[in-house]
Amino acid sequence: MTVKTTHTEEVKELLHKVAGLHTEGGDARMKKIVHRFMSDLFQLIEDFDVTPEEFWTAVNYVGELGKNNEAALLAPGLGMDKYLDIRMDAEDEAAGLAGGTPRTIEGPLFVAGAPLAEGFARMDDGTDTTSETMLLRGRVTDTDGKPVANAIVDIWHANANGGYSYFDKSQSDYNLRRRIKTDAEGRYAVQSIVPSGYGCPPEGSTQTLLNLLGRHGRRPAHIHYFVQADGHKHLTTQINLAGDEYTYDDFAFATRDELVVEGKQVERSAEGERYGVTGPVTELEFNIELVPTDKADLQDRHARKRALEEAASA
Ligand code: BEZ
Ligand code: FE
Repeated sequence: MTVKTTHTEEVKELLHKVAGLHTEGGDARMKKIVHRFMSDLFQLIEDFDVTPEEFWTAVNYVGELGKNNEAALLAPGLGMDKYLDIRMDAEDEAAGLAGGTPRTIEGPLFVAGAPLAEGFARMDDGTDTTSETMLLRGRVTDTDGKPVANAIVDIWHANANGGYSYFDKSQSDYNLRRRIKTDAEGRYAVQSIVPSGYGCPPEGSTQTLLNLLGRHGRRPAHIHYFVQADGHKHLTTQINLAGDEYTYDDFAFATRDELVVEGKQVERSAEGERYGVTGPVTELEFNIELVPTDKADLQDRHARKRALEEAASA
């Protein structure tokens, strides 16, 4: 039986007080947002005739989500990070700042303060002797093709099990995480191992909900980038490796056509040998175009809670 109560004065008054709209104190924007949020939630309960059992299951779910530290993992799974990207793309378009390499989601697994190298870095700690060696390189230019020297290219990726150092305590500190400063021609290069895709913890809160939606929690093999250079818009992006089962079926919705990169397996890499990388190598090239701007707030990544960020900037 669906009863209708959200239109009543009693419920309206309740929502008004819930959001603190009857008081002077507090934050006006927060009051408005909470009022809208709770009104929409009450309406949803009415429209779907949500039972008390269902409601308390949801409350407990949120509690577990926090306890498992998975809120920032569920968000991309529900398309929220992608939606923020869609909004930022539209804002860039409206401000005449569109163009360059497309952004895509950061994800929850960045760690600040990776070792900084000039031009070239080896990213893996050498303990994985069975994965393919990867040589990843490219150039950072502006949208007119002019090289951007001294850009900081912050790269991070998973190991062969899809695990990220710092979060996966079996890996050494900053394994598969490096910052590279581009040379005078805007070039950067790294030696590493070919990563595997990430999967949500199978018993975790995110996967529990995905199961109820009939969805998997897998990402394709991918490599993350932050690219920062004075006078240019900060770029958060990642490349998704071609040929992965999940390249076009990413649970976090991060794949964009322009960001799918094909690896080339070679017996020896002339480019790699310049950096002392010998033997069979998977070569990947990813060139990056940054959009010039003099707006200081667009030159840095937006604020959010990130592992070790406060320690790195202290
Ligand atoms: C990742 O980048 O690996 C990632 C992104 C979103 C959710 C989970 C993982
Ligand atoms: Fe990732």
